[in-house]
Amino acid sequence: MRIGIIGAMDEEIALYLEAMGTKDTVSKAGITYYTGQMDGHDIVLVKSGVGKVNASVCTQILIDRFDVESIIFTGVAGAVNPELNIGDIVVSTDCIQQDMDVTALGFAPGQIPYADKWTWEAEGKLVELAMQASAKVTGDHRVISGRILTGDQFVADPSRVAALYETFNGDCIEMEGAAVAQVSAMNDVPFVIVRSMSDKADGSAHVNFAEFTHLASQRSYEIVMEMLKGL
Ligand code: ADE
Repeated sequence: MRIGIIGAMDEEIALYLEAMGTKDTVSKAGITYYTGQMDGHDIVLVKSGVGKVNASVCTQILIDRFDVESIIFTGVAGAVNPELNIGDIVVSTDCIQQDMDVTALGFAPGQIPYADKWTWEAEGKLVELAMQASAKVTGDHRVISGRILTGDQFVADPSRVAALYETFNGDCIEMEGAAVAQVSAMNDVPFVIVRSMSDKADGSAHVNFAEFTHLASQRSYEIVMEMLKGL
């Protein structure tokens, strides 16, 4: 099975690059794709860049050009669920574009106008596998399956976090997941997003993000590597 693994930033893919060993590189639309093997699987590893447009282009190319059969996004997020702390894990049940806002025309928050669907569900088996893998990764962190909110903003404001929690019942906030999710769903490719919390999207988010992105990226990596054993 050929698996696409996406991270948005260098730090989120660095450990995979090391683990892959021998690899080929292909560039398309300014994005570099690394093809190789991990745990007996054909892997296409890629840094999408930050934000929904980068993530969308990257995902469509993974599907069209590399013919991946499933997609795993690995990386960090800001906690929205007040019960989550830095280092905790959210495995996506579904994703919403929180910054899609056409409420002025009567659409629901997050609703893509005229679409009857704007919540993108991760594939059940991949979610289950990620949850099982998370349980095997040691540490005192919490692991939940939950809703991922995506938008082209780094959120660093507790009142915004409270509003996101209330409006969408989301568990964490990041900048790529719903784009990967929507493009995957549009192409009938199963996906899951595995995010470890680097910050709480509050007034300390910029400091915490800088300090904890490394640890949080490592946690996501450990879970995805454990998942590969079960795929
Ligand atoms: N990724 C990690 N932390 C984030 C935050 N606070 N807002 C958006 N994306 C993030």
